[in-house]
Amino acid sequence: MTEPPAAFAPLDDIALLRWYDVAGVDECIGEAPVDRFAADAARAERRARAAAPPPAPKAAQKAAQKAAPAASPPASDTSAAPGGSARAGAAAVAAEAVTLDQLRAALEGFDGCPLKVTATHLVFGEGAAAGGLMVVGEAPGADEDRQGRPFCGVSGRLLDDMLASIGYDRSTAYITNVVPWRPPGNRKPTPAEVAVCAPFVARHVALVAPRVLLLVGGLAAATLLGTSAGITRLRGQWHSHRPEAGAAEIPAMPTFHPAYLLRNPDAKRLVWRDLLAVRQALADAGNGTG
Ligand code: URA
Repeated sequence: MTEPPAAFAPLDDIALLRWYDVAGVDECIGEAPVDRFAADAARAERRARAAAPPPAPKAAQKAAQKAAPAASPPASDTSAAPGGSARAGAAAVAAEAVTLDQLRAALEGFDGCPLKVTATHLVFGEGAAAGGLMVVGEAPGADEDRQGRPFCGVSGRLLDDMLASIGYDRSTAYITNVVPWRPPGNRKPTPAEVAVCAPFVARHVALVAPRVLLLVGGLAAATLLGTSAGITRLRGQWHSHRPEAGAAEIPAMPTFHPAYLLRNPDAKRLVWRDLLAVRQALADAGNGTG
């Protein structure tokens, strides 16, 4: 008689760490006792402080008065929107940045989004808009949070393949996210978190000034297009995004997120069509790379 196979082979250390990572266990527990109640109270206090609007400098307040009505969709009445006054502070700070470096510094110094407290790194964006294409995703995951780079995990590898299929890479396309800090455990960013980050992504788009936007996933599409429609309805059609009042409208193509494609490979054929439309639009704009 043969031995029955062991039901579960023991995991080696690396596999176990990977499994913890996937399951959202990303904190080490030490050997010394920790008073979690005190730590929770301190964290709650830090969050409350982070949620309060940062005191805006005078120049920023003036800029906010001018720029707030011009902010990107969905809401220009910042006080009534989710994230209300923090969003108004964000709009003021974002409006002051006139270069990408200044925008990065503004985000680094901005304490109005509670996600910053739990994130390891700011994930700002990277690439170049030399080819006229800017990709906007949702929010960093664990890999991005560790490295401080957008789309550097499994979804990122698929995004790289998607870009390569139309002749682009990170030296010819620019990549960023709606939310630049990782939501703990990879949960969806809340409406208030999205609202407070929205002025920064709008300014980011205005500064990169791409010819074409590729919005990957429902959150990027809804935020930049100012709609509550879902990605299945939005994808495959041209829309337009005006990052700021007075700025030119930018053609925007929503499509499925690579993470969705990893779970639903059948949808790749639809995304392929969206990418072909993007390639054509870029070629028509004189920015095609091939
Ligand atoms: N998913 C996103 O939307 N953005 C990233 O940077 C990584 C994964």
